[in-house]
Amino acid sequence: MKRVLLCPPTKFDVVYEINPWMHVEIKPERASAMEAYRQLCEHYKALGFEIYELEPQDGLPDQVYTANVGNVKNSTFIRANFKYDQRRRESDFAEDFFETKFDMDAYALPEDVFFEGQGDLLSDGERYFFGWGKRSDRAAIPYLEHVLNTRVIDFELIDPYYYHLDTCFAPLSTDVVVINPRSFTPEGRKRIAREFSTVIEANEADNRVLACNLVCAGKEIVLGKGITEELREKLAKFGYNTHEIDMCEYLKGGGSVKCCTFEF
Ligand code: ARG
Repeated sequence: MKRVLLCPPTKFDVVYEINPWMHVEIKPERASAMEAYRQLCEHYKALGFEIYELEPQDGLPDQVYTANVGNVKNSTFIRANFKYDQRRRESDFAEDFFETKFDMDAYALPEDVFFEGQGDLLSDGERYFFGWGKRSDRAAIPYLEHVLNTRVIDFELIDPYYYHLDTCFAPLSTDVVVINPRSFTPEGRKRIAREFSTVIEANEADNRVLACNLVCAGKEIVLGKGITEELREKLAKFGYNTHEIDMCEYLKGGGSVKCCTFEF
């Protein structure tokens, strides 16, 4: 059974710009963000997920993007070291949550080694995939391999709009992955083709709504509204059903469904 940690958008805002999607003059509408949040929770309940919530804090307008707070391996919470000061405190609240609710121990990378949690570290259940170059540092790899006790398969991210791995890469199973091909180097694309028997490419229109920023459970995919019929059909061909939510308010901060969902 999947557990997810979410954060209601009562304090969600765009008050600084740390990725190319964010413009301080284009504010998210809280009521509409709240409606999307409600729908997200409904889909997750219907899929049988157990939902946990972080309490929104003053001065942390990006806290809604819970995927970034770290990662969990067994009973260890691996804290994020956010690149930008504006988000750094988010890992303290998350650490507190996992300690008090789940009695987890925390693991921290050295302070100057950036690591932005599930945003850049995804698993297909067997392997770990790590994206670096925009937010997380390549130097995080040996620390992650140590705490995960396994190798990570790493990719340099090269497109500034797809600054976290979860904005351009979504392993649906050990065989099938959805990617934005433009985010990867030729070397990276070769590596993806070696690791997965089926690589589904999201096109430009799909990527404008962060189609790869999805949550998958079995054959059910929850993702943002606005994906192309072409992508929907490709997914259907491999047996996947899509559940589409209007995430337009969250796109103003540079995120969609997966960014808002910490899975553990
Ligand atoms: N505004 C947030 C930031 O730039 C968005 C985070 C998106 N999260 C993600 N997992 N891709 O940090």
